[in-house]
Amino acid sequence: MPTALVLGASRGLGLEFVRQYRADGWRVIAVARSDEGIEAIKALGAEAHKLDLTDAAAVAGLGWKLDGETIDVAIYNAGVIGPRTEGAQPIPKQDFDAVMHSNVLGPMMALPLLLPFVETGNHGRGGVLAVLSSKMGSIGGMESNRAWMYRISKAAVNAVLKSVSLDARHAICVALHPGWVQTDMGGPQADLTPQQSVAGIRRTLAGLTQTDNGSFHNYDGAPIPW
Ligand SMILES: NC(=O)c1ccc[n+]([C@@H]2O[C@H](COP(=O)([O-])OP(=O)(O)OC[C@H]3O[C@@H](n4cnc5c(N)ncnc54)[C@H](OP(=O)(O)O)[C@@H]3O)[C@@H](O)[C@H]2O)c1
Repeated sequence: MPTALVLGASRGLGLEFVRQYRADGWRVIAVARSDEGIEAIKALGAEAHKLDLTDAAAVAGLGWKLDGETIDVAIYNAGVIGPRTEGAQPIPKQDFDAVMHSNVLGPMMALPLLLPFVETGNHGRGGVLAVLSSKMGSIGGMESNRAWMYRISKAAVNAVLKSVSLDARHAICVALHPGWVQTDMGGPQADLTPQQSVAGIRRTLAGLTQTDNGSFHNYDGAPIPW
């Protein structure tokens, strides 16, 4: 039975990853920071760990709890949008800290720690280590500066993913854009349901090969410029 790990799975896309991998018969380990999130994960038959991904000691503790595990797919899903600014406005330090801690510091602590567990995944051939980024973080594709704190954090997490991919020997490390999705973050007017987005991402992840290590993909598999 393959194993998936989902970091930030209380609701939205994270919880949908747990639902779909469980429905497919996978063993799922998932992380949330609230009691409600833990209950939602457990209700889907997954193993739940309560921690805030910006807490260095808690993330290190997760590493100890995973000792001996082999992970086939690990997904860093947690993210926050921050202020929905128009234009390049001066950013209050507390907004910078909140967004950069969840979207960049968390992955910089968790991804290197998770890589060894993923290296042995997929029957020793190497699993997939994915981070939920956003097309809004693509510098090559930037046509708007709306919510620039979020954009900059996602450009930074893309650099985190690319850096980690250079240490991978077998694992395939990828950044993903889930599409514009109907979650608390995306809003009800978004293009895709969480079911559609996650089904597309799971198909994309299942079709990756070693040459995809260190790349950025749309949920449907199309490449996105960094
Ligand atoms: N929805 C879209 O259209 C869209 C588009 C592009 C990219 N994305 C990216 O896709 C990912 C998932 O988005 P979503 O739409 O599902 O967002 P969401 O509905 O706002 O859910 C965000 C999730 O991240 C968790 N989280 C945030 N910070 C955390 C922390 N420090 N520790 C633990 N958990 C934390 C939240 O937990 P709590 O419940 O505890 O807050 C929640 O489970 C994000 O990285 C987002 O940037 C989404």
